[in-house]
Amino acid sequence: MKLARYTAYAGPESIVIDDVPVPAPGPGEVLVRVRAAPVTAGDARLRSGKVPRGLGAMLRLAIGLRRPRVAPGWAFAGEVAGLGAGVTAFRTGDRVFGVVGFKGGTHREYLTIPADGRILPLPETLGFNEGAAFFFGGLTAAEFLIDKAHLACGEHLLVAGATGSVGGAAVQIGRHLGARVSATASPANHALARALGAETVTDYRDAAPPGPFDVILDVMGGLGWRGAKGILAPKGRLALITADLPAMLGAALLPHGHGRRVITGTSPETRAKMERLVSLHLAQGYTPAVGQVLPFAMLAEAHAIAESFHKPGNLVVVME
Ligand SMILES: NC(=O)c1ccc[n+]([C@@H]2O[C@H](COP(=O)([O-])OP(=O)(O)OC[C@H]3O[C@@H](n4cnc5c(N)ncnc54)[C@H](OP(=O)(O)O)[C@@H]3O)[C@@H](O)[C@H]2O)c1
Repeated sequence: MKLARYTAYAGPESIVIDDVPVPAPGPGEVLVRVRAAPVTAGDARLRSGKVPRGLGAMLRLAIGLRRPRVAPGWAFAGEVAGLGAGVTAFRTGDRVFGVVGFKGGTHREYLTIPADGRILPLPETLGFNEGAAFFFGGLTAAEFLIDKAHLACGEHLLVAGATGSVGGAAVQIGRHLGARVSATASPANHALARALGAETVTDYRDAAPPGPFDVILDVMGGLGWRGAKGILAPKGRLALITADLPAMLGAALLPHGHGRRVITGTSPETRAKMERLVSLHLAQGYTPAVGQVLPFAMLAEAHAIAESFHKPGNLVVVME
C-alpha cells in the first residue's frame, strides 16, 4: 500500500510516498481501507513547522526537534477491510470514519485503529469525502461555540473567516443553535458564506461589521482583541481559534471590561465529542462543505493549497 511521510520541516515537496505492506489488525483493532482523508491547516502547520508567533519551540519539543516525527493525515473515511481478534462492533465492509489526531497516519491506503477508539459508523447521509471532511472544523467549531463560549439562542454571532473548515462549520452550528449569524469572507466566498447560513457577509479587509456581537469567532486571529473590543457586547466572548503566545497570555491575564472574555485553546477529539457532532449532523445542524478533491498522488499540491489559509470549505484527497 502507499503511505505518506514527512521528511523535514519544509515545503510540500518534502512529502514522500512509500510502498509498504498492508498492516494486519491486532487484537481489538479494525483494519480500514481509507477512501478519503482531509488535508487540513493543521497538517500544513505540522509539516512546515510554521505556527503562530511564540509557539514554534513548543511544537518542536512536542513532535520533533529536527523533523516532524508525526505521520501525515489527521482523519479518515473508508471501509472496514479486516477485523482483529475479539472485535464485534464492526463488520467487514462497514462504512466508517474517524480521527487519529495529531500523531497522524491517515494519508495512506490502509490503517489500523482500536475498535473502541475514535472510529464511528459513517451515517448514510454522508459520502466518503464529506466523512473525511467532517471532524476537523466541526469539532473545533462545536467546542468553541458550545463548550467554551456557551453561545445561546437569539445571540448575535460573528464568524470572521467564515468559509474554510472551522468557519464553515461555525456558521452552520451557530445557525442551528438559534444565533443570528454574521460573517466575513473574501468577496469570492460571499455566496458560500450565505449558502452556509450567514445572514450578512462583509469583506474582512474592510472595516469590521458593526456589532454589537455576543460571540465573535475569530478564525485566523486577524481581528484580535484590538479589532474586536469595539464590536463585542457586554458579557461578550471573543474566541480566538488562531492565537499567538502574546494573544494567549493577554486572554488569560488582561482585564477585558464589562464582563467580556477572550477564549483560546484547543478542542479535545474524544469519541464523545465526535458522537455529539454526528448528532448535530443528524439534526441537520452541520454538514461539512467539501471544496477541492484531489487524488492521493497530489498530496503535495493539496498541502500547498491548505497552507494558503484561503481554501473554500474542506480539502480532501481520495485513495483510488
Ligand atoms: N484552536 C484550535 O483548536 C484549532 C483547530 C483547528 C484549526 N485551528 C486553526 O484555525 C485556523 C483556520 O483553520 P481552517 O482549517 O478553518 O483553515 P481554512 O480552511 O484554510 O480557512 C481559513 C479561513 O480564514 C479566512 N481568512 C484567511 N485570512 C484571513 C484574514 N486575514 N482575516 C479573516 N479571515 C481570513 C479564509 O477566508 P477566504 O478564503 O475567504 O480568504 C478562510 O475562510 C488555522 O490557523 C488553524 O491552524 C485551530
